[in-house]
Amino acid sequence: MSAFHVTRTLPEDAMAAALRADVQQGLTSTPKTLPPKWFYDARGSDLFERITELPEYYPFRAEREILARRAEEIAAALPARTLVELGSGSSQKTRHLLDALIGLHTYVPVDVSESALEQAGQALAAERPELNVHGLIADFTAPLTLPDTPGPRLLVFLGGTIGNLLPEERARFLAGARALLSPGDGLLLGTDLVKDEAVLVRAYDDAAGVTAAFDKNVLSVVNRELEADFDLDAFDHVAVWDPEHEWIEMRLRSRTAQTVKVPALGLAVDFAAGEELRTEVSSKFRKEKVAAELDSVGLELTDWWTDGESRFALSLSRVR
Ligand code: SAH
Ligand code: AVI
Repeated sequence: MSAFHVTRTLPEDAMAAALRADVQQGLTSTPKTLPPKWFYDARGSDLFERITELPEYYPFRAEREILARRAEEIAAALPARTLVELGSGSSQKTRHLLDALIGLHTYVPVDVSESALEQAGQALAAERPELNVHGLIADFTAPLTLPDTPGPRLLVFLGGTIGNLLPEERARFLAGARALLSPGDGLLLGTDLVKDEAVLVRAYDDAAGVTAAFDKNVLSVVNRELEADFDLDAFDHVAVWDPEHEWIEMRLRSRTAQTVKVPALGLAVDFAAGEELRTEVSSKFRKEKVAAELDSVGLELTDWWTDGESRFALSLSRVR
């Protein structure tokens, strides 16, 4: 019997309130910022799927290569009965793990994007009638309550999405992830690796302009949800490598001096010509840093797998 259901742990009014608070804070800060989780309405989730098909965007293919090659090894090391995936999106790459985990009881995809979760859940239920799929609409930066399902539990966080958290957010996130694990459970974490700057910048500023459209989509979300009047053509998408923090920053640069109104917040936001609004950081990692950050929350890195070109890594860690 196929079983797919979705639980909304993030009520719509709480999500609307969080967006208001983030926009209020971000657009009145210096420099201006918006958190990346607001990219992912239905259009943003579709644009992200198109990004994964771009020739310049290697992380998706590199991680898929590792999963295709290592899924059975991962399943042998951690024969999970419950697979919890944070920021699951389309759950495409996860299929390698679902195939390899032969004793799997329940798959719990967790995402803020209701459209991505619904589409992925419906597809999986049709493909795998024997699998319980319990989707959670939730924000993984807040404490999570997981369904009561059998262990061992494997928590997976793919795509390098951990890199979209700022260092303090990442430390809080890892402590929260550790709190969801018991002895015998594990964390499978995807991290993009430090590499040549030109390769990185191209991955975040592709020739076809799909990443630019994804970046500007956050302005469309603010326009729709908070009646703002951002003119998307009045901003340019910019991707820069920050060698000190070892992250890519995506920014939207105002083409002219302009004032943007956000009536739902009673805000009028002035942009100088050339002023930049930071929309995302995407941190790139080295093995020692990943191991140290896991260690600091009581997780021991036990396995480290990379793709053939050492562009991306998957690590498995366990409760120490
Ligand atoms: N794991 C997939 C998708 C990565 S895109 C892959 O590797 O291809 C990032 C995903 O995380 C999106 O589906 C987005 O909706 C989700 N996401 C981003 N911030 C989130 C948050 N704070 N809480 C829950 N989901 C989030
Ligand atoms: C989801 N996340 C890991 C992507 C990344 O590469 O940082 C989001 C993205 N931003 C631009 N392209 C893709």
